[in-house]
Amino acid sequence: MRIPIAAGNWKLNYGPQQTAEFLQSIRSELTEVQGVVNLVFPPYISVPAAVQALNGSNIYVGVQNVSEHTQGAFTGEVSAVMAAELCSWTIIGHSERRMYHHETDEMTHSKILRALDAGLSCVVCVGEQLAQREADNSEAVVAGQIQRGLASLPAEKLKDIVIAYEPVWAIGTGRAASRDDAESMAQMIRSVFAEMYGASSAQDLRILYGGSATAANIAAFMESPEIDGALVGGASLKPEFVQISRIIAESRR
Ligand code: 13P
Repeated sequence: MRIPIAAGNWKLNYGPQQTAEFLQSIRSELTEVQGVVNLVFPPYISVPAAVQALNGSNIYVGVQNVSEHTQGAFTGEVSAVMAAELCSWTIIGHSERRMYHHETDEMTHSKILRALDAGLSCVVCVGEQLAQREADNSEAVVAGQIQRGLASLPAEKLKDIVIAYEPVWAIGTGRAASRDDAESMAQMIRSVFAEMYGASSAQDLRILYGGSATAANIAAFMESPEIDGALVGGASLKPEFVQISRIIAESRR
């Protein structure tokens, strides 16, 4: 069975002090939730505070991005190897990076390779924009993101890949995808992965839903056997994240 995941992408929220305060406030309740992998992704500057606040807990810390470079004259960048000194996960290819920082599938691909090489597990984000959905192009867009972004990964590293399906129009809008839409995209993602890496790897692949996920709607997504948890934005900044984690865990009991 695939162990489900509750992941919180904090985006550009919570500096070191707020990170410590928030995590101390949810730590014990979140630690009690069994049968789910809990992940938090604070801003880079807050990662040490998060690691310290969660020391000895079963809650993992990750970064929201890594550089496609390993070292050198790249002002403002942080390499996967550096991130791996402090934490064990990274998000890669979030739509906000694709949109505002012009990340291409090729960049996503090299970042995934850097991250896997450094020993980080990756939550790779894919998802279509509203115009692409309206043009009935969602499947082709997402399949292309997977094919180009996840090409030629080492077989022994496939277990370190998680895919988050995050339709761009659902992010931060309060307008989540329907369970059926998320499920059919997850099925499509799994079948593209199966073509690339075989049925058994695809069966083991965890696929998360992201986009206005809340404690009120997550149970419906988890009714789908294709969806293995959530990548949560806004609601992960609140104690509601504990509730979301609990609902995800209970859905697989
Ligand atoms: P929201 O949950 O705020 O819509 O954000 C989703 C997201 O982008 C998580 O990566």
